[in-house]
Amino acid sequence: MSIDFGTDIYEEPIVAKTFLQEDAQEGSLRPKTLKEYIGQEKAKGNLAVFIAAAKMRGESLDHVLLHGPPGLGKTTLAGIIAQEMGVNIRITSGPAIEKAGDLAALLTNLNENDILFVDEIHRLNRSVEEILYPAMEDYALDIIVGKGPSANSIRLDLPHFTLIGATTRSGQLSAPLRDRFGVTLRLELYTPEELSEIITRSAGILNVEIDRDGALELARRSRGTPRIANRMLRRVRDFADVKGNGIITRAMADEALLALEIDHLGLDPVDHRMLHAIIENYGGGPVGLETLAATIGEEAVTLEDVYEPYLMQLGFLKRTPRGRCVTHKAYEHLGLSVPKSLMGDAEQLTIE
Ligand code: ADE
Repeated sequence: MSIDFGTDIYEEPIVAKTFLQEDAQEGSLRPKTLKEYIGQEKAKGNLAVFIAAAKMRGESLDHVLLHGPPGLGKTTLAGIIAQEMGVNIRITSGPAIEKAGDLAALLTNLNENDILFVDEIHRLNRSVEEILYPAMEDYALDIIVGKGPSANSIRLDLPHFTLIGATTRSGQLSAPLRDRFGVTLRLELYTPEELSEIITRSAGILNVEIDRDGALELARRSRGTPRIANRMLRRVRDFADVKGNGIITRAMADEALLALEIDHLGLDPVDHRMLHAIIENYGGGPVGLETLAATIGEEAVTLEDVYEPYLMQLGFLKRTPRGRCVTHKAYEHLGLSVPKSLMGDAEQLTIE
């Protein structure tokens, strides 16, 4: 998982789904208040109302489910909610809570109105999830004491707390769990203008010189994702320091991203392999996700969570009941001639 800046060997792609070592520094870039948080206007506006109302009534905030593709700021937003509510936050993840007892320990250590943040909440196991239902609904833990016929259930009161769950796949949550969240917020991919603002803010914190066009160029190539924008900023800064005069201009950004194999729309070699495989091996689709993943040697979940959202937003890829299909736009972007069967789509879209 190492990233060697000195030799230009990047074992992890810029679009990596997981936290990279360098993302640990992301803490300093994370906005601490709703006012500092750029974009996600709809989610932010609603949250501001719910936070103000809970504070007015002196109550804990209702349980919140955050969903959307990775890297859009779900953990950041949870930290901001805690800050705005003036409460503590405990951060954990679905796979880290292995047994019912692990969850019981977390819950009993919370103070009144505190927040428990569970990342990847869709990966909680069933026995843990069942403990969560009465905890969320009645602020109580049902503990079974003893075994066999003499077993007894004891109810333990918990502090009023807020559960914030984050997931890239809300469809995988069980209905009873999903129903227990009073607030559900969907985070959307960011616009280039919003990302440009985020990059400019991050550059200020990191003491990197970047001009307007440089920021906008990085923004356009960050696939709607602040985590990718911030990673790109650090890597392009290395190029600017070593090969330029330390200032990130549009030309500098272009030179660096060309070297990093990130194209003008932010597509990396995996996106290219994916689109080429659909076109060259499966006649443009439809092809099933698992088959496609096996063809290019990637994991299906990575393609689905990390690569597809942006390709679909660009209108390059469609999910159909029979599998994935590329559109005429993908052919055009790759510089390939559009097949006759997709010509109709192209004309229709142009006329519209
Ligand atoms: N850094 C990462 N995400 C951000 C956001 N939404 N606003 C400001 N800075 C950020």
